[in-house]
Amino acid sequence: MLTVLEAIQQRRSIRAFSSQDVSDEMVAQLLEAARLAPSGSNRQPWSFVVVKDAAAKKELRRICAGQHFIEQAPVVIVCCANLNRYSVEEKKKRRREFRESGVDKTLSGRFADQKLMETLDAQPVPAETAKLGAIANTYIAIEHIVLTATALGLGTCWIGGFDDAAEIRRLFGLEASLLPVIVLPVGYPEGKLPAPRPRLKREDIVMEQGKK
Ligand SMILES: Cc1cc2nc3c(=O)[nH]c(=O)nc-3n(C[C@H](O)[C@H](O)[C@H](O)COP(=O)(O)O)c2cc1C
Repeated sequence: MLTVLEAIQQRRSIRAFSSQDVSDEMVAQLLEAARLAPSGSNRQPWSFVVVKDAAAKKELRRICAGQHFIEQAPVVIVCCANLNRYSVEEKKKRRREFRESGVDKTLSGRFADQKLMETLDAQPVPAETAKLGAIANTYIAIEHIVLTATALGLGTCWIGGFDDAAEIRRLFGLEASLLPVIVLPVGYPEGKLPAPRPRLKREDIVMEQGKK
């Protein structure tokens, strides 16, 4: 098994899969990695659909701009932002769990003010805020899946290349509160691992403090 660092270094977007199947145990490990991901206020605003059905994968390929390797992968995980997790009811549940688990005692600043937090929990989250939060947090869970897959010798490719999330929602009969954000084909890479893809240099992405 690879270390986290090795998985980060060896991960590639894989766009060709062998016909070898992915076991249910492995899929379970991927979903467990997603389940353990961190999220703002522990809202865990994600849901996943595991797709193995050939007809559904063919439809996903069509919806995702005809990207053929989606159909080739033995398993495709449709990753959804779950807006329900921002409901007042869910917020109150998470607050209760924080209290019961003692997490609330580790919080500080404004977040340690229980009365204030309870008042905020009772207020609905604006739709745009919930959407942004749900997508950002779901991306964290997706990367947990991706790195775990790499550690298990599997390949994945984030697919955000679709125009209409509602088409995916309809395909799987998902409710309106579930927003498909990424389609993730999973399988054994076909052939040699691709070379690392180009990246910006460190100085391109790190700003020195105080420099104008
Ligand atoms: C949010 C997101 C959406 C992406 N959508 C697609 C996609 O639709 N099709 C595709 O072939 N690759 C897609 N990619 C993969 C990127 O092209 C890839 O990560 C990038 O080129 C760097 O290559 P690497 O992942 O092999 O390091 C996506 C990646 C991310 C993070």
